[in-house]
Amino acid sequence: MSASESRQRTLPAVRTVADLRTVVNAWQAAGERVALVPTMGALHRGHLALVERGRALCRRVVASLFVNPTQFGPNEDFSRYPRDEAADAALLAGAGCDLLYAPDVAEMYPAGFATTVIPGPIAERQCGPFRPGHFAGVATVVSKLLLQSQADVALFGEKDFQQLQVIRRVARDLDIPVPIEGVPTVRESDGLALSSRNVYLTPEQRAVAPALYRTLREMARRLEAGEDVTAVTAGGLATLESAGFTATDYLEVSDAETLVPLASSDRPGRILSAVWLGKTRLIDNISVVPRH
Ligand code: PAJ
Repeated sequence: MSASESRQRTLPAVRTVADLRTVVNAWQAAGERVALVPTMGALHRGHLALVERGRALCRRVVASLFVNPTQFGPNEDFSRYPRDEAADAALLAGAGCDLLYAPDVAEMYPAGFATTVIPGPIAERQCGPFRPGHFAGVATVVSKLLLQSQADVALFGEKDFQQLQVIRRVARDLDIPVPIEGVPTVRESDGLALSSRNVYLTPEQRAVAPALYRTLREMARRLEAGEDVTAVTAGGLATLESAGFTATDYLEVSDAETLVPLASSDRPGRILSAVWLGKTRLIDNISVVPRH
């Protein structure tokens, strides 16, 4: 099959754990490595970068599509989260994905389901207090997806940096034998991180949004030049406010692995932030290279 033919084929889909395992087991029995890309759909180039990285690492790529109710708070956008499976399947096929795993809620959480994975302190900072139960919902569904697929590697975006580090911690703590691979954030040309939630922005809000990443870049530059964390954070907060963001949930300079406040500049750092534009919440983050 030529590349253009393979890009046009429809993507095979499975909807049960049993069918997923049948396909994955057959690939692995044939000596093929399998990558898993968990998603909630509403796919964009950020998600497709995970598929492409999966293809670079493995012969086969499975994408899961499941809008996980347990990671949404009561006042969050679960019911209005954008859903279009046919469009997502076409994008995945074009990116070289081999299989769509799209279970329904009853397959993921059958009657009697009662177990929750509660991550430790790493889930209690940054987004944690603002989204109670969110990371427990993520940790539970991701643990299930890793164990359901038994993939050889699973890919997650640095866009959701705290989520990535929570998942790494959970996989390590529960001895889930699937290596976790982080993929750099894909951005619009003006720096705004791609997100399924960007469709909620009005044109005016969309014009303000790139100031978040600009602010993070300026903060990283100042920290890497040796400036003090408190002064740089205060400057960043002031810049965000004057740029037109409605509110800032947090703007923190953290240790890149544990996400605790950065104690010394000889450790890799990460600046993490969540801000609001009207009713839309944006998150972003950037690395801070340690000084030697
Ligand atoms: P979702 O928001 O659909 O994101 C799926 C994956 O795509 C996540 O690993 C996320 O970090 C990554 N991603 C999103 N935007 C990106 C961007 N601009 N660049 C690079 N990667 C990006 O995150 C979730 O779903 C869910 O919490 C999930 C892990 C699927 C569990 O339900």
